[in-house]
Amino acid sequence: MWFIARIRKRKSHLPACGVETTATTIVCVFLIFRISHITLHGILSVSTVFLDADDTRPGRFQQVRFSSNVEDFACDNNTELLVMVATKADEYDRRVSIRKTWGSPLRFNATATRLLFVTGIIHYHNNDEENADFRDMILTNIREKYQNLALKTFAALFFAQRYCPRVKCLVKADSDNFLNIPALERYCRQNHERPSILGRCNISRKVIRNRFVKWYVPPHVYGPNQYPRYCSTGAYMFLGRETPIKLLNALPHTGFYESENMRRMSEDVIFTGIVPSMLSLPRIHSDGFNFYESPTTECDESTKRQIAYSIHAPDEIDAMFRYETLLSASGDSCQ
Ligand SMILES: *[C@@H]1O[C@H](CO)[C@@H](O)[C@H](O)[C@H]1NC(C)=O
Ligand SMILES: *[C@@H]1O[C@H](CO)[C@@H](O)[C@H](O)[C@H]1NC(C)=O
Ligand SMILES: *[C@@H]1O[C@H](CO)[C@@H](O)[C@H](O)[C@H]1NC(C)=O
Repeated sequence: MWFIARIRKRKSHLPACGVETTATTIVCVFLIFRISHITLHGILSVSTVFLDADDTRPGRFQQVRFSSNVEDFACDNNTELLVMVATKADEYDRRVSIRKTWGSPLRFNATATRLLFVTGIIHYHNNDEENADFRDMILTNIREKYQNLALKTFAALFFAQRYCPRVKCLVKADSDNFLNIPALERYCRQNHERPSILGRCNISRKVIRNRFVKWYVPPHVYGPNQYPRYCSTGAYMFLGRETPIKLLNALPHTGFYESENMRRMSEDVIFTGIVPSMLSLPRIHSDGFNFYESPTTECDESTKRQIAYSIHAPDEIDAMFRYETLLSASGDSCQ
């Protein structure tokens, strides 16, 4: 309706469209075509998460704050691996599913590993009661919006360096990842002395300039046509005790604190690509991290066994079956 109304309205404002001569007819057809093209474009184009004019006003970056009892979740001297899962405040069912399956303390060494959820805020939702029951949620002042995902990874790094400075590795995951934590514990124990990032890091790094694609990034937000090597799927592991603090210390040199648009970029591009490349922090590719439900594996050099570290699933249906599929992909011998 709106589409038709708009063309009609524009037509009535074109006095040249009386079709007196061939020239005016051509101009007329051209104008109508242009108008409908622009209108269609307006309807079809995916609205981008970026601002046309970046907001670089000083002080616009709102420091991430944690709820007052956050010290209660601090790691102790036995904690070696910290797993932080980015989750939306109202994703209660997801968290329940994770707590029962791959995130259950019965499924990993709960002395060595701590699993915590990072949540933001939604004005109508309060997580205090849930956190009183489970005591595994880092509540932040981050607004729950797609473009704020990078702030959650920032919060995870910030929490790790502030409250868990002695952990050897930090895993960042999304709530739709399923993790094989025992395999990550093993890899961490064997490799944490060489600072690096482990994940699916051999993906295409081309910056998407097609505005109809969800991951479109306009040149005024990121100029180069390729990202530095980064690790996708939402789940990856930072190795090395000092890695979180090093990443945070490098962040002021990237424009993250100045540019609202930079903060709206994909969290993996920022924290496994742009910042680590400034530090020359190696990113180690493993086929054991997956975009999909059916796991591919990596041959572990030390044990000569296949390993799958993570899968990605759209919902929590059959979560236990999916978790078992992930686990059973590991173990076969390989060369
Ligand atoms: C943890 O380790 C640090 C440094 O090694 C030590 O100063 C502190 O007392 C330890 N804390 C506990 C609770 O053992
Ligand atoms: C669990 O982790 C602790 C701390 O690193 C370690 O001392 C203990 O041996 C581990 N237990 C198992 C069963 O691996
Ligand atoms: C990443 O590696 C896997 C196998 O090792 C391969 O199948 C896949 O095509 C690679 N991806 C890219 C973008 O090179």
